[in-house]
Amino acid sequence: MSRPVILSSPDSIAERPQPFFDLRMKMHVAARQVEDMLEQVLPKPAGLHKRVHEAMRYAIFAGGKRLRPFLVLSCANLFGVESPRSLRVAAAIEALHTYSLIHDDLPCMDDDDLRRGRPTTHVAFDEATAVLAGDALLTIAFEILSEPATHPSADVRCRLVAELAKAAGSAGMVGGQMIDMEAVEHPLGYQETVALQRMKTGALFEFCCEAGPILAQASQNDYERLRNYARDFGLLFQITDDLLDAVGTVESAGKAVAKDREQGKATLVSILGVEGARQEAATLARWNPMARMPRICGIFLYSFLIATLRTFDWPKKRIS
Ligand code: IPE
Ligand code: IPE
Ligand code: MG
Ligand code: MG
Ligand code: MG
Repeated sequence: MSRPVILSSPDSIAERPQPFFDLRMKMHVAARQVEDMLEQVLPKPAGLHKRVHEAMRYAIFAGGKRLRPFLVLSCANLFGVESPRSLRVAAAIEALHTYSLIHDDLPCMDDDDLRRGRPTTHVAFDEATAVLAGDALLTIAFEILSEPATHPSADVRCRLVAELAKAAGSAGMVGGQMIDMEAVEHPLGYQETVALQRMKTGALFEFCCEAGPILAQASQNDYERLRNYARDFGLLFQITDDLLDAVGTVESAGKAVAKDREQGKATLVSILGVEGARQEAATLARWNPMARMPRICGIFLYSFLIATLRTFDWPKKRIS
């Protein structure tokens, strides 16, 4: 059984603990900043088609964790990228991620009624509006990236657009969702399930970590190191999401739980059991005491993220 690449040693994490409150504060600040940017870049409800604007805003401003934006900003900070630029990329990925959630919840997919602690978009509006709001959030992500305010270099903007398109499309998130849907009829093994999770969830995380080095026009080596880091993080994140479905509560998750088993989803929990999936997450994170505690899975993930990012000790370089 091949193991994913681990970029940080357990010692490097243990030696440099990050107080949770500090981390939470940083995430809170980043979330507010990206919400301000989303407020600026999303259309205000207007015109004959204002219903689609309302649905886009309903889904986006429902209070997600904003983890992907946080990753974009954290990785871009490693290179001293100017924050208006990284915030635009952060807003783009959050728009695209929110589209993926709206569509994931549709009756023809996971058929969920609750998301981010409130009725899903197709329940609050209707299915057609939810499909269209998702489409509009997907496409606006590329509009945001392609505008000169994101970066003065057209080459950089094109690379961001191309990488996000690959991550979100049939070789990435959409392909993973296809396997996820089909796996209900055709059970998958361990390797196939890992591949599915790396696609449906990991690919967008990879983009989040690549965007900083792309914006900074950093070296290929820096770019690949962050990409490898993101590969493990994305898989770890999906295992944690699957554990939360198995052992979490509706109140803490803000969405339905105990559905993966009922729907016959392919997850590492279904293959390895809850303990086995926790061990897998622990192997990925190498922070065993935290990984054993399901109620703080979220904090564990963020701590892993920060602790690992802090092991990247590059000199800051300012882009022109
Ligand atoms: C949920 O992602 C979808 C998965 C990929 C598991 P998040 O757990 O990041 O959802 P929000 O953005 O906080 O609502
Ligand atoms: C969805 O995975 C991943 C996406 C690409 C949206 P899940 O179906 O497990 O996500 P949740 O549990 O509904 O948030
Ligand atoms: Mg799903
Ligand atoms: Mg789902
Ligand atoms: Mg899930």
